[in-house]
Amino acid sequence: MLRRLASQMFCGRVQWGRLHMPALFHTASIKHGSTALPSHIARYSSNFTCQSIYATQNQAIHQEKLQQATILEAYHLHQSHSFDTIWLRENCRCDSCYNHATNQRNELFHEFSDTHIDVVQHTSEDGALRVRWADGHVSEYPWQWLLRNKHPGDTSPVEKILWDGNDICGVSLDFVPFSDVINGDDGLRRLLHSLLVYGVGLIENAPTTLEATQEAAEKVSFIQHTLFGKMWQFTADLARGDTAYTNIALGAHTDTTYLSQPAGIQVFHCLSHDGEGGETLLLDGFHAAEQLRRVDKEAFSLLCEHRINHEYIEAGHHVVSLDPVLKVHPVTGELEMIRYNHYDRSPISTIPQEALGKYYAALKSLSSIINKKEQEFFLKLRPGNILFVDNWRVLHGRSAYTGNRSVCGCYLPRDDWIGKARIIGLL
Ligand SMILES: [Fe+2]
Ligand SMILES: [Zn+2]
Repeated sequence: MLRRLASQMFCGRVQWGRLHMPALFHTASIKHGSTALPSHIARYSSNFTCQSIYATQNQAIHQEKLQQATILEAYHLHQSHSFDTIWLRENCRCDSCYNHATNQRNELFHEFSDTHIDVVQHTSEDGALRVRWADGHVSEYPWQWLLRNKHPGDTSPVEKILWDGNDICGVSLDFVPFSDVINGDDGLRRLLHSLLVYGVGLIENAPTTLEATQEAAEKVSFIQHTLFGKMWQFTADLARGDTAYTNIALGAHTDTTYLSQPAGIQVFHCLSHDGEGGETLLLDGFHAAEQLRRVDKEAFSLLCEHRINHEYIEAGHHVVSLDPVLKVHPVTGELEMIRYNHYDRSPISTIPQEALGKYYAALKSLSSIINKKEQEFFLKLRPGNILFVDNWRVLHGRSAYTGNRSVCGCYLPRDDWIGKARIIGLL
């Protein structure tokens, strides 16, 4: 039987104690406690060469052992922390187990033998956990690294501020000069900071051309190529089969809900307008969803649980996605995405007809919050102002307009704009 025993204090050091399974397949050189074991300490330094001897390579971990959690209890600053031993071993960051040039694993857990995950001894000193494994390998994990990686935590230095129309009117949104975004990282940092906090970023004094809009967008990330191409430009000419190409009012929605990974950011630049109206509607979808979570937890859960279809159909294109209206982080419960577009929603086929009533009620509750006037924020975009909207959080729309209005823009991929924010230290 395989069982993990609690660790014991021994000679001032935390020692590992456990029932060992008969080492049926172990070679003599890797038996527990063998004096022939190499005693290399595998460190994080990239110039350390680890020479540990691995157990018989063709001996995989027994399935039974995999299914039983084998937990190492270790103490740090008088607190006990539990670690699964497979998790620890597969995350050894020594030069042998991990390629620091490519930031990828060398050793894969499904090729481990039992002795890779049997702990002979562990110590917690000098800010690091050191583990000596039954195959002779020694791993060292800085506690800071362990605590940061065992739980998603909430380490983001930038906190979201949820808003309604009044709140955002009281905020002086940061209009970053175009030249500051193009020249150097400071303008880009301001733009991304505003996007992370409010879900909206603004640039002013941009040349009123598609090329300048593209140049600003590409400071954030490469452009997401969709069925609309890379950069798009539209007027009310119904050039595409989408209501965006008309002059009627558009209710609040998010874009590209029919993609399994909706566009991360939508970029808008009103290049010219000689008529009235055409104000941009912005609405914080996370603020609305959090209100729903507060007043009707069950409705919120239904919108998280059920994956439903959205689609885009046009000659030569038929794109369908299947995902929930609200997506939350699996551990923290924090909202990650709102996918909200009644225009593009397909017939719901993933919920039994008998259960649809409850689902529609939940969707209606969310829509009722979204449709409240106090949620809305209207912004008149002047030529030279480029608007960046976090399409996973902030809904957009437009009031009806007269005259000729020319707007250009593009989409930016989620992973890459968030990645840029991470690189410049905002996440
Ligand atoms: Fe849209
Ligand atoms: Zn290692």
